[in-house]
Amino acid sequence: MSKRTEPLPGTSDILPGEAVQWRALEAYAHEVFAVYGYGELRTPVFERTEVFLRTIGDETDIVQKEMYTFEDRGGRSLTLRPEGTAGVMRALANLGFGQGDEHRVYYLGPMFRGERPAAGRKRQFHQVGVECVGKSGPELDAETIEMLMRYLGAIGLKQTRLLLNTRGVAEDRVRAAAVYRDFFSGRVAAMCEDCRRRLESNVWRILDCKVEGCAEIAAGAPGMTELLGDASRDYFARVCACLESLGVPYALDARMIRGLDYYEHTVFEVVHEGIGAQSSVAGGGRYLIQPPGCKAPVPGVGFAAGMERLLLALAEEGAGGPDAGNESVDCYLVGLGAEALRANLALARTLRDAGLRVLANLEDRGMKSQMRNANKVGARHVLIRGGDELARGVVVCKDMVSSEQRELAVERVSEALAR
Ligand code: HAM
Repeated sequence: MSKRTEPLPGTSDILPGEAVQWRALEAYAHEVFAVYGYGELRTPVFERTEVFLRTIGDETDIVQKEMYTFEDRGGRSLTLRPEGTAGVMRALANLGFGQGDEHRVYYLGPMFRGERPAAGRKRQFHQVGVECVGKSGPELDAETIEMLMRYLGAIGLKQTRLLLNTRGVAEDRVRAAAVYRDFFSGRVAAMCEDCRRRLESNVWRILDCKVEGCAEIAAGAPGMTELLGDASRDYFARVCACLESLGVPYALDARMIRGLDYYEHTVFEVVHEGIGAQSSVAGGGRYLIQPPGCKAPVPGVGFAAGMERLLLALAEEGAGGPDAGNESVDCYLVGLGAEALRANLALARTLRDAGLRVLANLEDRGMKSQMRNANKVGARHVLIRGGDELARGVVVCKDMVSSEQRELAVERVSEALAR
């Protein structure tokens, strides 16, 4: 392979054979989210940079290191979307939030983060996500999580683990941040350069640092659940109780804060142990976001799953991926001579009208080469015509599994091969 034909590092071509599974992930998303009353929202893949800056948080890795930001010819700063939530909030704000309105939307598509490429970590990756915007409450959070787990079950994933935590409300976080600052300042010598800065700028990000030494220190820090006020403790207890009554298993991960700053109360991640270091197949939580032009922050809850990672996890489970229906070729038309080729063009049209998947050889080639092609595409039946068959109004139909051959009248072919 030449470097000039390979896709850029961290990006991939999704080939026709693979696209079948992608379509299945998408089809299940449309199906599952619809029964919870969600509608699809498609936002642009690039937005004004400010849409992401304010929403995701200045101190996050995404904003600090990973956004694809560029100036367009008009001197505007634009950014390829690194995630879906910010654009959804911008789009809903554009429609106008009415008092008490609830918007339930889902989205599918490419996201862009300039991360170091690795297995399951791409620069262009794809998310399927949902946002329920305008209302809040622990029951709503639990319903959202239950929907995520239903989706993961529908696509065929079994070995997932749901991790749950809370970020409390702003007052809890002010109190907890002081506790964490105290905790980490005593250990600053062993922390990375970034975390020393974070001690002042955003102590939460230390809990999320992937550097080994920092992660070890963070593992000994107090859990968020220990630092909550009464109202937040009650809120989180209700989320847990709802999940239990819905029969959704979860594990507490009291130091999980997630990589975006907009969360409030419930946060969650679904991990799959079989896909290596990038084990998070989905993540989400409740948030409070003030989109540009809005006077007050708007509450919401949602999640996004990484489609590349879902497919890796499915392959790891040996599930072979979700079933998107059979894409094999029903019949391959072999024609000998220009007249037969032209007649096959018409026959292919008739058979396709009947819903059959048809490939026709339309080059003037020998029988052997055409049969080789039929084999290559995995055709179930091959229909063969030369001058003689053409004159008699028949085709020779070869069953490629049993190798049996029979003659069929042309007008009977679609009926005989009906799926
Ligand atoms: P996130 O945790 O940044 O959350 O991303 C969600 C999922 O996207 C991850 O669990 C992972 O599966 C996938 N993902 C993230 N980065 C990459 C990458 N570089 N390569 C491959 N897959 C990746 C969000 O994006 C939030 N907007 C989720 C959310 C929605 N929270 C509330 N509503």
